[in-house]
Amino acid sequence: MNKPKRYTITTALPYTNGPIHIGHLAGVYVPADIYARYLRLTGNDVILIGGSDEHGVPITIKAKNEATTPQAIVDKYHAIIKKSFEDFGISYDNYSRTSAAIHHETASQFFKTLNEKGAFIEETTEQLFDEEANQFLADRFVTGTCPKCGSEDAYGDQCEKCGTSLNAIDLINPKSALTGNIPTLKATKHWFLPLDKYEAFLKEWILEGHKKDWKPNVYGQVKSWIDDGLRPRAVTRDLDWGIPVPAKDADGKVLYVWFDAPIGYISSTKEWALQHGTDWELYWKDKDTKLVHFIGKDNIVFHCVIFPSMLQAEGSYILPDNVPANEFLNLEGNKLSTSKNWAVWLPDYLQEFPNQQDVLRYVLNANAPETKDNDFTWKEFQARNNNELVAIFGNFINRVLVLTDKYFDKIVPNPSQFTQVDQETLASVKAYPEVIASSIERYRFREAGQELMNLARLGNKYLADAEPWKLIKEDEARTKTILFVALQIASALAILSEPFLPFTSKKLKNMLCFSELKNAATWNDIKTHEVLLPTQHQIGKAELLFSKIEDETIQAQLDKLEASKKTNERANNKLEPQKKPITFDDFTKLDIRVGTITDAEKIPKTKKLLKLQVDTGIDTRTIVSGIAESFTAEEIIGKKVTVLVNLEPRTLQNVESQGMILMTKSTDGKLVFVNPDTLNVENGLPIS
Ligand code: 2FM
Ligand code: ZN
Repeated sequence: MNKPKRYTITTALPYTNGPIHIGHLAGVYVPADIYARYLRLTGNDVILIGGSDEHGVPITIKAKNEATTPQAIVDKYHAIIKKSFEDFGISYDNYSRTSAAIHHETASQFFKTLNEKGAFIEETTEQLFDEEANQFLADRFVTGTCPKCGSEDAYGDQCEKCGTSLNAIDLINPKSALTGNIPTLKATKHWFLPLDKYEAFLKEWILEGHKKDWKPNVYGQVKSWIDDGLRPRAVTRDLDWGIPVPAKDADGKVLYVWFDAPIGYISSTKEWALQHGTDWELYWKDKDTKLVHFIGKDNIVFHCVIFPSMLQAEGSYILPDNVPANEFLNLEGNKLSTSKNWAVWLPDYLQEFPNQQDVLRYVLNANAPETKDNDFTWKEFQARNNNELVAIFGNFINRVLVLTDKYFDKIVPNPSQFTQVDQETLASVKAYPEVIASSIERYRFREAGQELMNLARLGNKYLADAEPWKLIKEDEARTKTILFVALQIASALAILSEPFLPFTSKKLKNMLCFSELKNAATWNDIKTHEVLLPTQHQIGKAELLFSKIEDETIQAQLDKLEASKKTNERANNKLEPQKKPITFDDFTKLDIRVGTITDAEKIPKTKKLLKLQVDTGIDTRTIVSGIAESFTAEEIIGKKVTVLVNLEPRTLQNVESQGMILMTKSTDGKLVFVNPDTLNVENGLPIS
């Protein structure tokens, strides 16, 4: 598009069923904030819009688990999430919530408009129903096997393994998340958006129109959905938590959360416009407005297929210019998981690293999952802090300010003749706003952040090579020039770091006393101005911008994760209830003996099976055991084991198994032998 008149930037509305963690920040909120801050700094009309997604099944499930109401849950987490965003400097123009009256009205009206236009199909179909809970099972109320990839943990709305968006009815072997029961089918009426009708529009708009400028991960997902063929999708649900369906015969029905949530971007904009006496429609309906949705990859179908089809059906809205979705962030090699407490929660981070928001912002951006899933590790966090923020950025700034204070009483000195290196250095500084801007405008925020660090590297090297601390005694004039140049670099860093490190930028501007300048330089000024910080300007005292993170601090975080892992393992090894009683006679029927594995080999073309030769004392016999995922054949030869010897023979993979080795599980879920506790026990001795 031509140069936009204004920007509407939206961020996925987080569900208010828990606090937010580093994955959310890295995937959506840090990149969106960098983008919005950069656009504001370069003089654009920008709104950064967000809010809490307060409907949907996960919230009702959480309320049920905590024996409270959905409203109490959303009130609690909305406040926590909103505060986290403020704490981490996400510069929202408005942060709303979908339980707000303005949102209910806006979403209701949107549905009515589409209904009046005949955009929906009303259909009575059979849906999954839990007789015991007396409730229809949509979305996350039901789990089962994904019809596409076979994952056994798919939800009724989406398979998290392969990303496919599902209808609950598509699941193989569905199971109620409320009672664990197998659902029955029951007829109910719903409103469907016939996505198939929008296929041609989506093909032209995205597949032809955005092949080059959308990220390959986003484009690829959309293409695969369209190629699979789109089907009508229900936009209403039989639930008691949500926005009531504004239509006849719709008692007990609410709008599907994914119908109302993206409309939340519009209602949040309306709320902002009302507060500012502005026209919200300019930000959603004017073709010179650039609309950009920041989301995670699990939200792609909703923002690139369903919401655009809704906007198209309504007819008066613009479509997103881009949807720069990120992949997922993992933590220390494992998927981030709320239920397993495998996460770094933002409120916890701030408690343990007070005032170090920029460190997390910087590390998450440096390692953001822009093109593929990425891993956050505490070691890398420490390394990036110590080796980049402290050793390069912080060190440079500290030296410049301390030396200016020591030699020139905090006054920006007058330069004399510039050497070629000085001139080249000042010329390089001028190029940085464009270099960083170009990366940001292509949604390459990692690259942009590294360019900022390259500017700090340039400053650090300039000072280290020029060694003003050695020159001060013999050549004061040259020392003045060096510190003048270094102060210009420090000023450029103060300005250009704002999108990435907003707290540091503010602190640095204060240290350089920007507020005392009549016309403090801006982002664009760096490109043309010879002088960003004028001579004779008085600067302030040096304060440390970053501090070294010690090994013990990192170890404490790793220990905390290790504790979560242990708790999960224990939870995974939940004890089964005791079985029905048996008689002593029943017990004596079991012939259990001590034995020794004398030989073992893997059964070809199987994952789990080992063929063992076991000396039972009575004989040496073949036993097939499903333990190959826990042991190699070599490591178990010679092991004492406990064997059920009078189990009827069974043939597995053409091998007759004549008994069973007794096994249990260790705390980390691995199989272990039930060993006689001493090697002195003779083979063949019965266990009784
Ligand atoms: O995936 C989620 O967390 C959703 N609550 C995102 C909603 S984005 C938007 F459409 F509101
Ligand atoms: Zn799947």
